[in-house]
Amino acid sequence: LTVENYPNIKRLESFKKLGKEDLDYFKTILSQQEILEANENEDLAFYNEDWMRKYRGQSKLVLRPKTTEQVSKILKYCNEQNLAVVPQGGNTGLVGGSVPVFDEIVLSLTQLNKIREFDEVSGILKCDAGVILEAADMFLAERGYIFPMDLGAKGSCHVGGIVATNAGGLRLLRYGSLHGTVLGLEVVLPNGEIVNSMNALRKDNTGYDLKQLFIGSEGTIGVVTGVSILCPIRPNAFNVSFLGVESYEAVQKVFVQAKKELGEILSAFEFMDLKSQNLTKIHLADMDHPLADDHPFYILIETSGSKKEHDDAKLEAFLESAMEDGLVVDGVVAQDETELKNLWQWREMIPESSQAGGGVYKYDVSLPLKDLYSLVDAANARLEEHGLLSIDDESKPVISAVGYGHVGDGNLHLNVAVRRYTKEVEKCLEPFVYEFVSSKNGSISAEHGLGFQKKNYIGYSKSEQEIKMIKQLKNLYDSNTILNPYKYV
Ligand code: FAD
Ligand code: MLT
Ligand code: ZN
Repeated sequence: LTVENYPNIKRLESFKKLGKEDLDYFKTILSQQEILEANENEDLAFYNEDWMRKYRGQSKLVLRPKTTEQVSKILKYCNEQNLAVVPQGGNTGLVGGSVPVFDEIVLSLTQLNKIREFDEVSGILKCDAGVILEAADMFLAERGYIFPMDLGAKGSCHVGGIVATNAGGLRLLRYGSLHGTVLGLEVVLPNGEIVNSMNALRKDNTGYDLKQLFIGSEGTIGVVTGVSILCPIRPNAFNVSFLGVESYEAVQKVFVQAKKELGEILSAFEFMDLKSQNLTKIHLADMDHPLADDHPFYILIETSGSKKEHDDAKLEAFLESAMEDGLVVDGVVAQDETELKNLWQWREMIPESSQAGGGVYKYDVSLPLKDLYSLVDAANARLEEHGLLSIDDESKPVISAVGYGHVGDGNLHLNVAVRRYTKEVEKCLEPFVYEFVSSKNGSISAEHGLGFQKKNYIGYSKSEQEIKMIKQLKNLYDSNTILNPYKYV
């Protein structure tokens, strides 16, 4: 696999190169177990390379503090010494934001991983940033609550990481964005100051809502060390159905009908095209696809509520009418927990399946619902025109360009599965995809963020004035630009 290198970007001269005296200092505030140094046996590959194996840095040092005070001392020192730092959570980010570009120090939040407190009446959870999302959800499940967001990377990503990226995920349709559910944050600023707003208040209109600045800031103006979040009661009845439809038009109609007929119990509405399922079939070779016949599009609908009989009746009535109307031509409903998980697999494993053939170019966009799928058609046509695409011919770099995503949120994922990363494919797709999205007044980053990949393209979604304000904020809080340099703007 060819990993990207960065011919057009130069390491900033203003950043100091790590010296022995720096290591000596870190050893005074961290234990041996909290410091990982590159040596002949350890290349720190896990921390230097991203999930897609597309971006790789050359950091020689990973710091893994266990307390907020340690994070504060690290940043204060790095700021004074002009040492660049990359905050890192579970390293599941998909825009190259979580790994160094050059020799930045990796500040891993992995060991800052304690649940701080949970209020069983209000449902407010306070935890360290490094708690793994699935662990937080399991903790909540034991107490009858649920984490208000879910995503395929739940087994690795951190609560702090999803806040830093403002991740959307599979149930945003139901529980809303983290901008609404996060009640407070503890953040360490680049100069080491700790900003504590770990509120347990649903309402607080005293001054600017500063925490919002850090939600989605991708580690560029502060390191999130603590999160306070409002968690809903865990529904005790879940249903999942997996449906086949004949057109993207039908996907939209089923969505409207689902909103009308399922109402408050609708908790996820995901769509997938046939190409994405074909890649997943290769990857999940030992599993049978839920539907025996091929269909151009598939829909996964999840309902969750407090009374199984009520939800079952609603779902059944909805499916009957959708089939009678000819919108849905095939479908299954999970009969037990195992089937439910299996159906979700066919959606959640698409990212891994798209990447399994060698690599993947990912475009995560918001578009008006009527135009959502047209980007996939346009990308396929363009790749074919340029002679880059073939599912069988190994000499072609592109295997398939597939579309899937969170229809309920107007969010498409265009994944271009490749055998290898090449500049030719990248040039064919960029800025083409961003121009397409901009022409439809969409967003070039619906939920994955800007990171390294989209840094140069922010202008396709934000105005000059907005970019100016983003830069002003960055300069205000991180005037030495030590936090996550070369990314975002
Ligand atoms: P990392 O990848 O480590 O970091 C991501 C960014 O946040 C980096 O810029 C990093 O510097 C910064 N950062 C991390 N932690 C902190 C911190 N404590 N303080 C300050 N900055 C920090 N995203 C969605 O929105 N919806 C999905 O459905 C979804 N599904 C996914 C499925 C898979 C299989 C994968 C691999 C990823 C998926 N993602 C999804 C991408 C998503 O961005 C990440 O999974 C998650 O938000 C990142 O969490 P992380 O802890 O791994 O952060
Ligand atoms: C998803 O919805 O599966 C995620 O955002 C991850 C991805 O698109 O790769
Ligand atoms: Zn997604």
